[in-house]
Amino acid sequence: MRPFAAVAVVAALFAPGGAAFATDLPAAAAVCANCHGTDGRRDGPIPAIAGKPAVLLAGKLRDFKADKVANATVMPRLVKGLSEAEIDQVAAYFSSLR
Ligand code: HEC
Repeated sequence: MRPFAAVAVVAALFAPGGAAFATDLPAAAAVCANCHGTDGRRDGPIPAIAGKPAVLLAGKLRDFKADKVANATVMPRLVKGLSEAEIDQVAAYFSSLR
């Protein structure tokens, strides 16, 4: 995940005032957008996360973090880099999308 994380950080730094993203995109959610899309839905194997209840999304993320999701690929490693507050922020953000 290292090179990927670095790209996300660079992308976040160079997005002028975050203008490339929706106005209230939390910093921690920029990395999510690479796979799930800034709007939280993308065609293909990556599940849509937009508009789901925040408690559900946060619960999923905490399950990934605790290695409770069978067959998960990238999410457990990703979520381990998030603080508890960041989990709540990204869950609230993607939940707010329609
Ligand atoms: C490298 C691509 C990638 C990135 C970056 C990524 N995800 Fe995911 N996400 C996935 C994949 C693939 C899955 C399916 C589970 C798995 O294989 O780990 C998934 C599953 C999920 C799920 C569970 C959806 C469901 O209905 O089961 C949630 C919630 C989620 N991601 C949220 C996030 C959030 C929030 C972030 C940013 C912190 C993020 N993802 C970053 C690829 C990614």
